Amino acid sequence: MRQVIIAGNWKMNTSKEEADTLVMGILSGMADVKSKVIVCVPSPYMSQVEALIVHSQLNLGAQNLNINASGAFTGEISADMIKDFGVQYVIVGHSERRSLYGETDEIVAQKVQVALDNNLTPLFCIGELLEDRESGNTQVIVSKQIQAVIDQVGIDAFKNIIVAYEPVWAIGTGVTATPQQAQDTHVFIRSMLAEHDADIAQTTPILYGGSMNLSNAAELLNCKDIDGGLIGGASLKAQDFLQICKAG
Ligand code: 13P
Repeated sequence: MRQVIIAGNWKMNTSKEEADTLVMGILSGMADVKSKVIVCVPSPYMSQVEALIVHSQLNLGAQNLNINASGAFTGEISADMIKDFGVQYVIVGHSERRSLYGETDEIVAQKVQVALDNNLTPLFCIGELLEDRESGNTQVIVSKQIQAVIDQVGIDAFKNIIVAYEPVWAIGTGVTATPQQAQDTHVFIRSMLAEHDADIAQTTPILYGGSMNLSNAAELLNCKDIDGGLIGGASLKAQDFLQICKAG
């Protein structure tokens, strides 16, 4: 039985004060949440969020990491740095990193490797563009993205990886994949993992992301192969995020 995981990706949002208010709001409603809950916060707010969530059920995540351990990489953040703030999870391969910052499947695979080498759990994001879906290439794209990571870290490493399927056309657009579209792709992802290892295919959590909100979360999370959500916009409102956490 796979545990439901709900992760909030705040992206480049909130201020110092808003980050406090948001975390306090989430904490105040966590008592009856059974899912594992992660907040992936902007780097400057990690320290304050770490302090707020001590001894709580809330887990801290980062949104990116550099493949190098240290050195002349202006503006970048290393695995050691995020671990200094109690971070256990890191988003890797988000479509915004792929499209805006040139992260290829190979770079993403290296980042997954670095995260694992540092005992961080990668939230490994994959997903197709609208044009890929419309031309019937969803499975081709998604399998290429997964294969790059399998080639880099091996199938066994998926014991410590959370996959997030985020169709790019659904991110921040208000257009959510239908439960059937999401479920079908999750089944495909699991079948691809099963070609390498049947047990790992069954135990790997596969989250859905892309305009998940309080009105569609329950239906998506009810699908057999959808094990949770990676939430953008709706993770910035404590009450909405909590409702999604409770829908799982
Ligand atoms: P939205 O929920 O805002 O569509 O963002 C999804 C996402 O990109 C999470 O990583």
